Amino acid sequence: MFVKLSVLLVLLVSLVPAQAQDLNFIYNSGFNGRSGLNLSLDGIAEITPNGLLKLTNHTKERNDRSGHAFYPNPVTFKNSENDSAFSFSTNFIFAIQSEYTTFSGHGIAFVIAPTRGLPGALANQYMGLFNISNNGNFTNHVFAVELDTIQNAEFSDINENHVGIDINGLHSVEAAPAGYFDGRYFKNLTLISRKEMRVWVEYDGTKKQIEVTMAPIAVATKPPTPLLSLKYDLSPILNKTMYVGFSSSTGPFLTSHFVVGWSFRMNGQAQDLTASKLPKLPSIAGEKRSMLFTVGVPLISVILVLLVVSGVLYVINRKRKFAEVLEDWELEYGPQRFKYKELYIATKGFREKELLGTGGFGKIYRGLLPSSKIEIAVKRVSHESRQGMKEFVA
Ligand SMILES: *[C@@H]1O[C@H](CO)[C@@H](O)[C@H](O)[C@H]1NC(C)=O
Ligand SMILES: *[C@@H]1O[C@H](CO)[C@@H](O)[C@H](O)[C@H]1NC(C)=O
Ligand SMILES: *[C@@H]1O[C@H](CO)[C@@H](O)[C@H](O)[C@H]1NC(C)=O
Ligand SMILES: *[C@@H]1O[C@H](CO)[C@@H](O)[C@H](O)[C@H]1NC(C)=O
Ligand SMILES: *[C@@H]1O[C@H](CO)[C@@H](O)[C@H](O)[C@H]1NC(C)=O
Ligand SMILES: *[C@@H]1O[C@H](CO)[C@@H](O)[C@H](O)[C@H]1NC(C)=O
Ligand SMILES: *[C@@H]1O[C@H](CO)[C@@H](O)[C@H](O)[C@H]1NC(C)=O
Repeated sequence: MFVKLSVLLVLLVSLVPAQAQDLNFIYNSGFNGRSGLNLSLDGIAEITPNGLLKLTNHTKERNDRSGHAFYPNPVTFKNSENDSAFSFSTNFIFAIQSEYTTFSGHGIAFVIAPTRGLPGALANQYMGLFNISNNGNFTNHVFAVELDTIQNAEFSDINENHVGIDINGLHSVEAAPAGYFDGRYFKNLTLISRKEMRVWVEYDGTKKQIEVTMAPIAVATKPPTPLLSLKYDLSPILNKTMYVGFSSSTGPFLTSHFVVGWSFRMNGQAQDLTASKLPKLPSIAGEKRSMLFTVGVPLISVILVLLVVSGVLYVINRKRKFAEVLEDWELEYGPQRFKYKELYIATKGFREKELLGTGGFGKIYRGLLPSSKIEIAVKRVSHESRQGMKEFVA
């Protein structure tokens, strides 16, 4: 009896440390070393002074690049290489701030990989995960959940705003448009909305089931219906020890990809993140530019068009004002012409002050020819007035 009890005790003691070893971490108040180990960064990834994980930077010289951030220590996913993979769960809060409100690139992926960092991986549509030669290869041993903001036909992407489960390649095994179930209703989410959103990734090692759920930051508890649910055994994908982290890349559109908080737990439910404790996102540096783009440029265009139109109208009006009308009597008597414009200037615009008198069929004005300074008298006859024209000329 005593022997049996001690055997049981030994068994219990040997079980307890194994459970205690299960990794469990949470970064709820920034990634700058205060609430956890420093992440291992590469590429253009950085930790901002207030503790945000910024996987890609918004600036010009930094486009077309990728960034990784991994938990620094290896994570044990199996007891031995041939065993089945443990259950795990993780949740994180992300935000994508693009230079433009309607274009972005290329997204964020939660990733489990055999190495810390993904050497040889490309930016742009490869999301810093794979490259053209290893994409889809079974020897990669990479599991990822992509938050993809560009539709790539080469990977059969469903749209430019989707969540996908990627196994060894970017051709998602399962994908769905970004969104969540609020009760029975499905609500769309826009990945590039610059808003913070939560993502839960869970794997049940017994049922061999992967579930991905997302929600706006205000929804603090995981919605009961997942966005993606896939029966898939990760045991052949995950090695005994792996690294967990994030990957992101940018393309032609300058984009900042942020991870605001992150929680992970092996063999259990990862703690949820408390929104109030999270580091604050920066106000968008590109907003002024996009304001200029969305309000300024159309406004300037409208003003330019108005200026051009009024300019054209002015010229037409001026042309019409001083337009020369050839009277039929002129054809008969030859061009004894002064330009109407010249007469207009000479009589100071047919001012009443210059009026000399009123004749039978028109008013007579004093004038001074601008070209020769000769004093003249001008009789103003309407073009419509046919009366006495020939007599006048004679
Ligand atoms: C973590 O990074 C901060 C700077 O972000 C540094 O001051 C600190 O020494 C680092 N801690 C460790 C354990 O490397
Ligand atoms: C982006 O990276 C550049 C170059 O390293 C750096 O000068 C700049 O401060 C970074 N921008 C932000 C917003 O962190
Ligand atoms: C794992 O399985 C392979 C064959 O499937 C076998 O050759 C190998 O010895 C096993 N390794 C261990 C550690 O059990
Ligand atoms: C992962 O496991 C596979 C098969 O078990 C092995 O071929 C590969 O070398 C392992 N990768 C690493 C980085 O240990
Ligand atoms: C692709 O990545 C692998 C490592 O995962 C690397 O060995 C290989 O050289 C890379 N290929 C290219 C074309 O960059
Ligand atoms: C997968 O990668 C391995 C090792 O990198 C390579 O030998 C093999 O040819 C690749 N398979 C395919 C289908 O590209
Ligand atoms: C949600 O997005 C899908 C495309 O992903 C679209 O067909 C649908 O109309 C959207 N629904 C709402 C309510 O915006």
